[in-house]
Amino acid sequence: MTEIADRLEELRDQGLHRRLRLIEGRQGPRVTLDGRAVLLLCSNDYLGLAAHPRVRGAAAEAAMRWGAGAGASRLISGNMQPHRRLERRIAGFKGYESALLFGSGYLANTGVIAALAGRGEVVFSDELNHASIIDGCRLSRAETFVYRHGDLDHLAWGLRQAGKRAALIVSDGVFSMDGDIAPLVDLQALANQHGCRLMVDEAHATGALGPGGRGSVAAAGLSGEVDLVIGTLGKALGSYGAYACADQETTDYLLNTARSFVFSTAPPPPAAAAAMAALEVLESQPERVDKLVANAATLRRALAAEGLAVGDSETQIVPVEVGAAAPTMALCERVLEQGVFAQGIRPPTVPEGSSRLRFTVMSTHRREELERAARIVGSAARELGIAAAPPAAASLAA
Ligand SMILES: Cc1ncc(COP(=O)(O)O)c(C=O)c1O
Repeated sequence: MTEIADRLEELRDQGLHRRLRLIEGRQGPRVTLDGRAVLLLCSNDYLGLAAHPRVRGAAAEAAMRWGAGAGASRLISGNMQPHRRLERRIAGFKGYESALLFGSGYLANTGVIAALAGRGEVVFSDELNHASIIDGCRLSRAETFVYRHGDLDHLAWGLRQAGKRAALIVSDGVFSMDGDIAPLVDLQALANQHGCRLMVDEAHATGALGPGGRGSVAAAGLSGEVDLVIGTLGKALGSYGAYACADQETTDYLLNTARSFVFSTAPPPPAAAAAMAALEVLESQPERVDKLVANAATLRRALAAEGLAVGDSETQIVPVEVGAAAPTMALCERVLEQGVFAQGIRPPTVPEGSSRLRFTVMSTHRREELERAARIVGSAARELGIAAAPPAAASLAA
């Protein structure tokens, strides 16, 4: 039996022990964290919709009209109007025939992958895919071929080896810890060529990329073509829950076979109603997406001007890699003392030796506060001996 105290001690020794911090009040670009006012730079509420009056109002109204919970799984007696309406709206937004709601993105990924691949088949998964995809591959009992990040040659080689056993290619649309975008056009071409399905997780792409924030699949011109598009309601849509978009036959199949759908309570009606309202706000105010893109560019530029590399980030997720866990957390605490909150991210969330501060911007941040945050991070990193001095030529105007 594992000794819990020993295991906790081991986590502390490795600099991997985690604890909860407390946000007081609502989510927003500035929050009170453990009693201190901070600039929040690690939320996935990218468009500031979690606390939007219309979204909150819709949740409150739905709680009064439909109740706090659904009381059962969708297939028993938990299927309610807010679920059905939201599924239709999401399918339309994403350009798909059908959508199916799940309890969360984690549940959607584990359930869908396990439903679409099984023993004797092969799933192809990018090495930087989210943990919920990794767990879905494990649950499927299919063989998993993990291809090097974004490496199409490696993937193509694996597909050739698998032959007819190739069942599914699965990739994040925007990679959650690096902020780069998957090569979706090429992934789709390989899926077509090898006769397998492609599934894209749009957790960080919805509301952030593509026309009107429709995501990375829409940005690549592949709406309706990629077999399955998964997304969460818990990030840019400010609520909780998730969806899988596909053709009608596929969602019917998932409804019958995805265990995380069949054996779990339907999402609470207020969460579905809040996501519906968030989609309406997004569709009527697409400029929120433009602001998010502009803010991300500002932060990337400002960090670069401090001599901090931001990897291949092309989106609102902007990592500053430190390496080891301990200095990452030291940097996190040092900048927090100065009112900037970006959580340090350590293994197993990221590979060993690539611990980082993962900054995420929101459309509701102001340009000046992003620039100020970058200066704080830059000087803290230099004080801790983590970063070189800013390159002489770099400037915020660059
Ligand atoms: C890429 C990706 N997929 C899925 C999830 C899980 O979504 P949810 O938070 O709705 O469970 C996350 C979020 O943590 C994620 O980053």
